[in-house]
Amino acid sequence: MKALILAGGFATRLRPLSCTRPKTLFPIVNKPLLQWIFERLSKDGVDEAILAVNALTKFYIKQTKIPKQGLKIKFSVDPPKKPLGTGGPIKKAEKLLGRSEPFIVLNGDIYAEIDYKKLLETHKKTKALATIALCKVEDPCSFGVVELEENKIRRFVEKPARGQAPSDLINAGAYVLDPEVFDYIPKGKHISIERDVFPKIVEQGRLSGLIIEGLWKDIGKPQEYLEANKAVLDTIKNTKKDEKTCFKVNSPSALDKDVSIGEKSVIGPYAIVGRNVKIGKCVSISNSIILSDTEICDYATIKGAIIGEGAHIGESAKINNGCVVGDKVKIKDKVQLNEKTKVCPAKEINF
Ligand code: GDD
Ligand code: MG
Repeated sequence: MKALILAGGFATRLRPLSCTRPKTLFPIVNKPLLQWIFERLSKDGVDEAILAVNALTKFYIKQTKIPKQGLKIKFSVDPPKKPLGTGGPIKKAEKLLGRSEPFIVLNGDIYAEIDYKKLLETHKKTKALATIALCKVEDPCSFGVVELEENKIRRFVEKPARGQAPSDLINAGAYVLDPEVFDYIPKGKHISIERDVFPKIVEQGRLSGLIIEGLWKDIGKPQEYLEANKAVLDTIKNTKKDEKTCFKVNSPSALDKDVSIGEKSVIGPYAIVGRNVKIGKCVSISNSIILSDTEICDYATIKGAIIGEGAHIGESAKINNGCVVGDKVKIKDKVQLNEKTKVCPAKEINF
């Protein structure tokens, strides 16, 4: 079976981290999101993944060298300066996907434990044209929301106004589609599958839904990205306790390869530290993500923040809740960042 991964969006809400990487490459517990996606697809019997991207995203993905998990990987690139939305790229990939059997389409910006075999079974059993994976959320208004009866979707409303959501069941961003769907999407146009295509399929009574049970996380905003990392970390084994160290790592935390930590530092709980990060002495890090190759000097404190790749956090600096520090930023010694401060890539902060 083939899968099309939609990954050509611009992730504006995740700036400044998305200035230098597409959302699908954001690490979740030190592994790019796309790698988690490949692993799950391959486990569920998919043999080919087509990445629907823009030229820049293709460049970043190629540079990242993600293990392919036995999948054949192809790219389908949106035309320059003409994003095709969430539906147009499906039509564009028609030749690559073929018309012989149903295929999977998924949003490349969600972490989801979806059983694709079960989704395909539901699709076949209900003789649907499209079958959507669904999950329950507290506040459905920033998603696609459905009204479900048995396995049939009776209504699909993309991002309803407050108070207008027909239920708390949302589009989890993963579908099984029949090749007939190609006939619903005009060629070379910006099309929203959620607004332009699903409502038409509902009218014909051929849109099915399956409620998924596993963990589902959207990484749309920095706080959600942090929460997704913490939730996935909770599903992974706790950090080994090594009593002999002169620093402390509180569980749950995840330290990637080649992380060095100075004496009396306290790391965690919920510290997710990328490869080759250098942490000085008496540093405190909790509830935070530190991307690879960053240096954190002595006596620094990082709480509830996200620090980009190759950044420098000076001695005794304090990075507070909700701060997002871009790649290669230099925070000078003793600087305190107020809550929710965002720092653009490569900036130097001296005060
Ligand atoms: N190739 C390509 N071209 N991909 C695109 C484009 C485009 O022009 N625009 C968006 N995408 C990709 C994004 O990269 C993302 O992976 C996916 O399509 C969905 O787009 P988003 O912009 O992230 O949509 P959303 O998060 O507001 O809403 C979607 O996801 C929700 C679940 O997280 C919808 O599908 C909702 O119905 C759904 O509930
Ligand atoms: Mg999204």
